[in-house]
Amino acid sequence: MASIKPRTMGQQFGRRSWAEPWKIKMVEPIHMISRGEREQAIREAGYNTFLLSSADVYIDLLTDSGTSAMSDRQWAGLMMGDESYAGSRNFYHLESAIVSTYGYPFVVPTHQGRGAEHLISQALIEPGQYIPGNMYFTTTRLHQELAGGIFVDVIIDEAHNPADPHPFKGNVDLNKLEALIVRVGADNIAYVSLAGTVNMGGGQPVSMANVKELRNLCDQQGIRIYLDATRMVENCFFIQEREKAYAGVPIATILQEFCSYTDGAWMSAKKDNLVNIGGWLAVNHQDVFDLACNLVVVYEGLHTYGGMSGRDMEALAIGIKEAVDDDHVRSRVEQVRYLGCLLTEWGVPMVQPIGGHAIFLDARTFYPHIPQEHFPAQTLATELYLDSGLRSMERGNVSAGRDPETGRNRYPALELTRLAIPRRVYTQAHMDVVAESVKAVYDSRQDTSGLKMVHEPKYLRFFQARFEPLV
Ligand SMILES: Cc1ncc(COP(=O)(O)O)c(C=O)c1O
Repeated sequence: MASIKPRTMGQQFGRRSWAEPWKIKMVEPIHMISRGEREQAIREAGYNTFLLSSADVYIDLLTDSGTSAMSDRQWAGLMMGDESYAGSRNFYHLESAIVSTYGYPFVVPTHQGRGAEHLISQALIEPGQYIPGNMYFTTTRLHQELAGGIFVDVIIDEAHNPADPHPFKGNVDLNKLEALIVRVGADNIAYVSLAGTVNMGGGQPVSMANVKELRNLCDQQGIRIYLDATRMVENCFFIQEREKAYAGVPIATILQEFCSYTDGAWMSAKKDNLVNIGGWLAVNHQDVFDLACNLVVVYEGLHTYGGMSGRDMEALAIGIKEAVDDDHVRSRVEQVRYLGCLLTEWGVPMVQPIGGHAIFLDARTFYPHIPQEHFPAQTLATELYLDSGLRSMERGNVSAGRDPETGRNRYPALELTRLAIPRRVYTQAHMDVVAESVKAVYDSRQDTSGLKMVHEPKYLRFFQARFEPLV
């Protein structure tokens, strides 16, 4: 079994210390506007952090999507863009990076993750078919529903309890999946939609043992498995850390093995792959590739650029290789954990164990006096912004939206406010400031009341909904 070459000081001397495997070459100034200006800004934004101007934000933890700092090599790659309409050399670099890193032979580029979700959903789902998955994701489920599919959550129960310390809360409950197969028949299941890590569950991983068992079950039933690989590199870190057989195995090797148990993957390259825009779909089967490769020209662009420029594809090809560097992954997850450990010590309620890309504050426990219909997680995001200009995001009732059949609000068990950490962007001092702000808002929680929604868009309402304070 290959082992990781010890490179960081901590690794070489057997110490627990770690540091980022890079130094800063270019900086972007940020500043905090006054409390009065923040009050005005959030009012004008309809109490929705997505509607704030970034100039009014101090530390931006809205998302880890497209917010990474690129390396000097990636910036150099931008200068090597081949902007030919068809057959750009950068596409072939990208294709080869995906094939060698993830192991799927057929690649379709897309402008970002939801472009790939659209293609796979349209290619594989017949109206009325079921798509079991390990918890929903907003855009993924919407594309499955728009293709006529019905998403069914088959994640383990522990995932719905923020305090449960299960080390692999992203795992599929095989009994739930088997029960669905018995109920609807394997032919009515389009595919299993597996995500590693699980964003809506708190960045929680899937174990290698679980994906192997899932593969066995699906092989018996003739069902394919498609992977949302958006944060699979972080998932692999947790496998390396928590599954004995993988201790010391490089992230790149773990990733290859995990993907080998699936039939293909879609990717929002704006996360793990360290670029500001981009995505891809990659599959094992020629028939699925042929469908997706034809659909991409309708919705995204020619099959050798799929909505990206040549230079974007070059930066992405380089980002894919950087993303599986063990020192990088470790420092990325440890930074998230640093913030989470500070807040845990201070008694702030959050999803445990701490996930890969973000801290997910448990807004129900934070504000037990605010009922879910008054949007505690949205309220908490507003309060954090007012306190320090810190931008976070709701991941609860607003994000869950309405059931397309009944039109009723879906009230998820998890009502969370997410502090997502961009990759290679903020320092430990920024994390200290964030922790202090969360603590200050927690200390004054009794004085806070909820919000009411005054504008509700039909699709993915969390992006554009508007709110007003209740009092
Ligand atoms: C798990 C997961 N899948 C898919 C997507 C969609 O990707 P994109 O935003 O690039 O369209 C996201 C984006 O946040 C995500 O977190």
